[in-house]
Amino acid sequence: MRILTFGQTGQLAKALKRTQPESFELIQLTHQQVDITQPQLIDEALSRYRPDIIINCAAYTDVERAESNATQVMQTNVDAVRFMVKAARQYGIRFIQLSTDYVFDGLSSRPYTVNQTPSAINVYGQSKLLAEDVILDQQSNQFCIIRTSWLYDYSGKNFVTTMLKLMSQEHNNAMLAQGLIPNINVVNDQTGCPTMVDDLAHFLWKLCLQKQWSAIYHWSDAGMCTWYEFAKEIQSQATALGLMRATVTLTPVTSENYNSPVKRPSFSVLDTRLSHSISKPKPWQQQLAQCLYSRSINKD
Ligand SMILES: NC(=O)c1ccc[n+]([C@@H]2O[C@H](COP(=O)([O-])OP(=O)(O)OC[C@H]3O[C@@H](n4cnc5c(N)ncnc54)[C@H](OP(=O)(O)O)[C@@H]3O)[C@@H](O)[C@H]2O)c1
Repeated sequence: MRILTFGQTGQLAKALKRTQPESFELIQLTHQQVDITQPQLIDEALSRYRPDIIINCAAYTDVERAESNATQVMQTNVDAVRFMVKAARQYGIRFIQLSTDYVFDGLSSRPYTVNQTPSAINVYGQSKLLAEDVILDQQSNQFCIIRTSWLYDYSGKNFVTTMLKLMSQEHNNAMLAQGLIPNINVVNDQTGCPTMVDDLAHFLWKLCLQKQWSAIYHWSDAGMCTWYEFAKEIQSQATALGLMRATVTLTPVTSENYNSPVKRPSFSVLDTRLSHSISKPKPWQQQLAQCLYSRSINKD
């Protein structure tokens, strides 16, 4: 089976490459090869490679910058999906669109099911929700949406790697040199679930083998935590693994005190039960351990 991904340099695209089963052929197109905001380039790529399934890993994912770049966000996250869907229909290709927990407003106190009505509260979330509408409008089981949350990998730019950098000896020393006490403020009033990108990739490979798709799936690791709790666990596990020696203080703060330019849902845990017949998520702490182990043996 031939799978094509748009976006080759992102976390998910890289994880698909790393976890690719032998029985699949994987074609990954870079931003330079196909800018997804250009319909003609999408059309040319699909007509040339004729994949069985497209997994759209490309997106504008910088949630903070999205607030002041709405036009580019909508072109990348919505218009491009419309172009892909049109071409996928034309060539009879199945299509998997990645979406996010940020399509929800966060007012719930229980994990969101796939049947709950989304209502996004920031530009990024709104763009991903509009893209979901494009998929759902097709009313076809050749198209599906996978919502995931708080994605991270052992390399690249994400919460785990950012925390490890801020907790490093070098960063501590730099702060001490400036007369500052090493401290990291971490938001403690937003609850979600971290997701190690490799298991999302494994889930997607299994999904590709399914003959029938539901319209929407939720996939995250199991459990829930706040960003602060996530940071504490990163620190504790990384210290135990010998990945860091510094003992920086982590201070829990409210979103209001954190002064972010973007509103984020205060609760965005996804109810993943519908996906369990395909694959069962593992506890997020266990996945973090796997990720930190990978980091300790990879230099990427
Ligand atoms: N990261 C998260 O926490 C998270 C959470 C929930 C859902 N998701 C969703 O999961 C999916 C994968 O996320 P990710 O974390 O793997 O994203 P990522 O690491 O930010 O990668 C995004 C990819 O999109 C490419 N891209 C951006 N604009 C493009 C364009 N105009 N044409 C072609 N390629 C373009 C980027 O290429 P360049 O870098 O070369 O521009 C990059 O390869 C996305 O749909 C995202 O919305 C992510």
